[in-house]
Amino acid sequence: MNNIRLSKSCVGEEEKIALARVIDAGYLGMGREVQLFEEELQAYLGTSLHVICVNTGTAALHLAVQCLDIGPGDEVLVPSITYVASFQAVAAAGAKPVACDVTPDRAFIDLVDAERRLTSRTKAIMPVHYASDSQDIGTVYTFAARHGLRVIEDAAHGFGCVRDGKRVGAEGDILCFSFDGIKNITSGEGGAVVTGDAELARRIQDARLLGVERDTEKRFKGERSWTFDVLHQGYRYHMSNLMAAVGREQLKKIGRFSERRQSCVARYQREFAGLVGLSFLDLDYENIVSHIFVVRVSNGRRDELMDHLRSNNIECGIHYQPNHLLNYFETDYPLPIAETLISEFLTLPLHAELTEDELTKVIDAVRNFLKQV
Ligand SMILES: Cc1ncc(COP(=O)(O)O)c(C=O)c1O
Repeated sequence: MNNIRLSKSCVGEEEKIALARVIDAGYLGMGREVQLFEEELQAYLGTSLHVICVNTGTAALHLAVQCLDIGPGDEVLVPSITYVASFQAVAAAGAKPVACDVTPDRAFIDLVDAERRLTSRTKAIMPVHYASDSQDIGTVYTFAARHGLRVIEDAAHGFGCVRDGKRVGAEGDILCFSFDGIKNITSGEGGAVVTGDAELARRIQDARLLGVERDTEKRFKGERSWTFDVLHQGYRYHMSNLMAAVGREQLKKIGRFSERRQSCVARYQREFAGLVGLSFLDLDYENIVSHIFVVRVSNGRRDELMDHLRSNNIECGIHYQPNHLLNYFETDYPLPIAETLISEFLTLPLHAELTEDELTKVIDAVRNFLKQV
């Protein structure tokens, strides 16, 4: 019997045809296809902000930090409950990710704790759209303005979401999306930085191509830069035409993908309502497109429920180990909410191809387990 997948890449014939088109055109690297993907993303987000595609969400975060000239001796506030990518991206720029606690209802960065972690070296704050939520982002911008910080939103989970009546990515200081294989849309691997800061956008465009000045413009015209200058550190972080071709097809499907994810989450909520021993995060599920569906399992039964689901061929997960407990990012202070939440969090299957039948199996398995006291 096949496992019910926790997440998966939802790709098909359209992506295959698009890949064949790029292969037939004879250039797989970064060119016109990437330019079109950037333009289409900008149109979808309904924004005039700059969109810069790169080869992972982690690269997007790293370039955001690096191109703000945040580096050795500088600190960035990051919630401890996030994928290690957020921490590594800050560290890759030579800066220190400073782990902060999270709010108990949404696992969003706790600004009371963040205030305690502020020093004269703090240069930016990186709120994470955990489980696609960023409804409290306004408070982060107020905090950042008060303390003179840049805001780098880790919106890896946030593609397709609506916030204050606008798409996430329509406005903000700097947002970083991920298009890795299991995100709300995928380009195989991939990511994008969105910012209205024209100077920063230029730096990031160059930095994704080894710092080669204005190489982006040349590549979009199908040309090469034979003579050029380099002003800053750069990386091989650009997106390829192959990736962009997949991303463009996925973007056409975002409406369908979003509806399916939302409908699965709505069913989970309906069917689990009032169940003793299980609760939800307090998220605006009607406006977000959940990348992961996280529940809290109380009474110390989370691991047992995980085992029960796995023995029923249902995959599940834990998002994420608090970073301040990892050796490399260990802190000398506890973060009690993060530590409690992570002992209760369980991620249930969610992707755009999850069937009603599969959902029924997951729901029945959870219910049966919680009935046994
Ligand atoms: C919260 C968060 N931040 C950053 C990333 C990094 O994105 P990528 O996998 O595209 O490098 C991820 C991806 O899983 C993520 O979940």
